[in-house]
Amino acid sequence: MIERVVAAIDQGTTSTRCLLFNRAGRMLAVAQREHRQHYPQPGRVEHDAAEIWRNVMRVVPAALRRAGLEPRNIVGLGIANQRETSVIWNRHTGTPLARAITWQDTRTDGIVARLVDGGHSPMIKQICGLAPATYFAGPRLQWLLDHVPGARAGAEAGDVLFGTMETWLIWWLTGGPDGGRHVTDVTNASRTMLMDVSTLSWSPKLLELLGVPARMLPEIRSNSEVYGQCTTMLPGVPVAGALGDQQAALVGQACFSPGEVKCTYGTGAFLLMNTGSRLAESAHGLIPTVGYLFGERPVYALEGAIAMTGSLVQWFRDSLGMIRTAAQIETLATSVPDNGGCYIVPAFSGLYSPRWHPEARGVMVGLTSFINRGHLARAVLEATGWQTREVVDAMNADSGVTVSRLKVDGGMTANHVLMQFVADVLDVPVERPLGSEAVSLGAAYAAGLAVGYWSDVEVLRANWHRAAAWEPAMDPALRERERGNWGRAVNRSYGWVQ
Ligand code: G3P
Repeated sequence: MIERVVAAIDQGTTSTRCLLFNRAGRMLAVAQREHRQHYPQPGRVEHDAAEIWRNVMRVVPAALRRAGLEPRNIVGLGIANQRETSVIWNRHTGTPLARAITWQDTRTDGIVARLVDGGHSPMIKQICGLAPATYFAGPRLQWLLDHVPGARAGAEAGDVLFGTMETWLIWWLTGGPDGGRHVTDVTNASRTMLMDVSTLSWSPKLLELLGVPARMLPEIRSNSEVYGQCTTMLPGVPVAGALGDQQAALVGQACFSPGEVKCTYGTGAFLLMNTGSRLAESAHGLIPTVGYLFGERPVYALEGAIAMTGSLVQWFRDSLGMIRTAAQIETLATSVPDNGGCYIVPAFSGLYSPRWHPEARGVMVGLTSFINRGHLARAVLEATGWQTREVVDAMNADSGVTVSRLKVDGGMTANHVLMQFVADVLDVPVERPLGSEAVSLGAAYAAGLAVGYWSDVEVLRANWHRAAAWEPAMDPALRERERGNWGRAVNRSYGWVQ
């Protein structure tokens, strides 16, 4: 009998990967390629979408080779992607009109300020659930239409298409200029600031407000259905699932019941709480969003988005040259017993959840001659812990449910010092499943459900097994003292950009 597996593409902020999973949710093979980060000006972060597609064409065959499998072994392909990163391209040639503008890019601050100053926030929030911020894709699309020569005219003529990364990849996978499907999914669409979150369709009012021609937008589809068949690489294989990467991790972590929470530690960190069939409102700086749509009725989520966690470690390694590999930060941090009074607030592109201060910038405080590299390493890791704590506090306040454990995944969960610190500052157990690839697994689950490889979410729930846990062990008085210090440090990051 031929072996049957599901393939997932995880198109992330720094790299693109292909992973293969079997029925038990075990990963059989992975192949990965990083893409270049372009920083043309302070506050701007761009990706070359064509490079990302080329990387997909390399990692998919590489993963198959590693597993000793062929395209005919793949029953379906799912995609999880960095959300909000936006690209426009020519539908006849497949050429992007400009580099993709990534989710960390703050060039749309003027557009966002005009929306807020013009009194549009309540209307926007009422329709799409989001408070205007540079984080979301819609203002980026407006910027592209206004600044890229030929973009607006091309979009109005039907020659230029818009997409976030799943849309771009599905279009190429299913034929590109030769009949590629132009679709998005509800989770990615929910981050554009253009979708009506109650009808799950594009909002004519928001399109008009941002000056976006409807014909350039993809069709909004569920997270688990056959969007089309692959024409290249995996001929005939159905592309059958797509979710924003953080929603994919919610699924991969089997958070199918209201109140369940996961946190994925990657470039940034993203906590999502399943809120069931109710789109929760947030009075504490969280983002109400679509969790997933399998079938007819959406499951919603409350999200806390932290812009910089893993990328702070990267900066510590690449820009400061303090370590050679990201893993070395753990050894460096354990060379000292504590932070020595030093705190780093990584507001490099402003502060996201729950504070939302776009004008904030990074600060390092408490420096004395006593501080060495070890203390800085600790402060880098502790910044992730305290930011997680702030989001969990907001979730408790918004949902009325007290988070009693946190499921974690992503690259940084290999760092025991960090995971112990997260458990300590949250004062709840932190648990990691077998295989920390929840993002890709979620995409695979979505595709596998669509093609009948898995029957329902209960089967997926049974695939979740705890592999590691960290129990809180911090002295409560110390925790409160440190929390106060962190808060004072954060206050110093405010108001830097004038
Ligand atoms: O909203 C941005 C998020 O989807 C990016 O995730 O893991 O690619 O940094 P990641």
